[in-house]
Amino acid sequence: MLPTARASRIVRRSMSKPFFITTAIDYTNGAPHIGHAYEKVLADVLARYHRLKGDEVFYLTGVDQHGQKVQQSAEKAGLEPQAYVDGITKKFTALWEKLDVKYDVWAATTDPLHKECVRANLQKLWDEKDPATGESRWIYKKTQRGFYSVRQEQFLTDKERGPDGQFGPEWGVVEERDEENFYFRLTQAPAAPGQDPATGLPGCDPKQWLLDFIDKRSAEGKPFVVPDFRVAELRNAVEKLEGDLCISRPASRLKWGIPFPETFGAGFVTYVWFDALVNYITYAPGHDPHYSERTAKQRSGEEGSGATSPAADAANNEPASSLRSFAPSRFNDFWPPLHVIGKDILIPAHGVYWPIMLKALGFTDEEMPTLLVHGWWNIAGAKMSKSLGNVVDPDLLADKYGPEALRYYLMSDIATGKDADFSEERLVQGYNAALANNLGNLLNRTLSMAGKYREGVLKRDAANDDPAAQSIFDETPSESAGNARRTEDLKKLMAIGLGMGTAKVALTESIERWRNADPSGAMVEVGRLSSACNDFIEISAPWKLAKDPLRADHLDAVLYTLAESLRIIAILIWPVLPDAAHGIFDQLAWKLDEAGKDSRFRLDEAKWGSLPDGHVLGKPVPLFPRIEADPTR
Ligand code: MSP
Repeated sequence: MLPTARASRIVRRSMSKPFFITTAIDYTNGAPHIGHAYEKVLADVLARYHRLKGDEVFYLTGVDQHGQKVQQSAEKAGLEPQAYVDGITKKFTALWEKLDVKYDVWAATTDPLHKECVRANLQKLWDEKDPATGESRWIYKKTQRGFYSVRQEQFLTDKERGPDGQFGPEWGVVEERDEENFYFRLTQAPAAPGQDPATGLPGCDPKQWLLDFIDKRSAEGKPFVVPDFRVAELRNAVEKLEGDLCISRPASRLKWGIPFPETFGAGFVTYVWFDALVNYITYAPGHDPHYSERTAKQRSGEEGSGATSPAADAANNEPASSLRSFAPSRFNDFWPPLHVIGKDILIPAHGVYWPIMLKALGFTDEEMPTLLVHGWWNIAGAKMSKSLGNVVDPDLLADKYGPEALRYYLMSDIATGKDADFSEERLVQGYNAALANNLGNLLNRTLSMAGKYREGVLKRDAANDDPAAQSIFDETPSESAGNARRTEDLKKLMAIGLGMGTAKVALTESIERWRNADPSGAMVEVGRLSSACNDFIEISAPWKLAKDPLRADHLDAVLYTLAESLRIIAILIWPVLPDAAHGIFDQLAWKLDEAGKDSRFRLDEAKWGSLPDGHVLGKPVPLFPRIEADPTR
């Protein structure tokens, strides 16, 4: 569970605000690995939790296709960069399909829509002039001579030198270069004409603004970065921030990027991070790259008034100084997003560049996102890397064990925010223990016994609506529960009360875990309900009850309790195990008219007592076949 997570709710409580979630977009310089799969599944399960709650959800993910690394990989493969990235992109989309990662829109940075958006944003920042000099407030051109790391695509400073005065091997080949480029201001931006467009205050020092903003969000109990132990890390980095960000590359040495608008002069392409970060705007719901032009035309009367498009609505409301290009009516419903990213790209990309870019584009403090920073999967304590030959292929694992076994492992064997060691052995053990033995057995035993003793027909006792049954689970059972007339009545009441109470705890506790972006904790809570039900089978011994006609009611109560618990378990596991959840509903013969549809699962239906009297359960089919140890592993 996340440290201090209770203080900082990550997943929104209210149903009113739609939920916009994004991930990092992956470099297309190689096939997806287990780290990529983890992040996309994590965002998928959080998105699904919100869908389960009934929220409107927008999940954005995709690929980062430009940059030197990609250009180099394409050269190595003997392909044109576009053909190369198209091939790798297919591996990503195929994997997400296999793993049932359901996104709403796919970002691809070579897409013309995105290129247009990046260029439009560069232009806007260029056009925001400092009245004193007539120059852009945010972007300037300068020549720099220095040491350049080809691998990291950046100029290096003395800070990057090791104790021996040399640049370490992590920088790869380091060359001395003289280069003219465009820079984006991170540390000092000249005062805006009259006032800062976002804050209404004079001028803006981005670095100071960012420090104040980070502190403000923490003070409000809504940290900019969660888990919040990373806030101090980011704040320290911002304190040390010096200089500005070089956002162009001469086309003479890097062709594979988005060309700068011609107004900047010929021969520059966009730095890959400035390109990639903009994807969150390009593909945001409601974003309209032509919004500014259209509203300008509307303002100048070129387009008739009274239009009903979102852009037209916005034209009446949006302050003329805004640099943003979107139709606020829809965009504002979703923005700001929750950005799910790995710890390596917090500083400086998402924690420094991105908020300052947003600030420069006119986003207010209230419109700044939240960063959910996850840890890394390592291999035996070491980083995964092609050179070590220890890269784990999620595609192979999904084929070997099934996509849901992999989803379950990735969501259960790591605490959000922390690192974990990947282990195929633990994948198998965890699956066998939690799914094959615990949940799978519960389903199988319940349906078999219901079939054997009652031909699958459930009897719903009125006690299911009786608060006395619920009180059995409390420390101080109500008088009516205590005074139950016969021992058999009491046993029946206890069966129902235990199921009802345990299911209620599982529901409340797993919701708490989901709110803290803690799928692993949520799965533990569901596992507890499943274990309690298995224990309950042992204790109540339905096979003995079935032999005694006087105990028929008690047996019915046990079977109902088990089936109803399974119905609730299916709802609660759906974000992580959508297929298995459908499998359970199919076998319970529940909501068959919605078979295969996401809408079949709703959190508000995870309440006790929905299976009706006389409901006929289906036949048991093994849902989680045990994975036998693989001697070759
Ligand atoms: N293209 C940039 C992100 C641009 S976002 C505007 C990038 N790509 S990446 O392919 O290198 O990484 C994509 C995501 O995968 C990052 O969030 C990164 O942290 C995550 N992971 C990469 N390796 C990982 C592990 N071993 N474990 C968990 N996640 C890791 O950075």
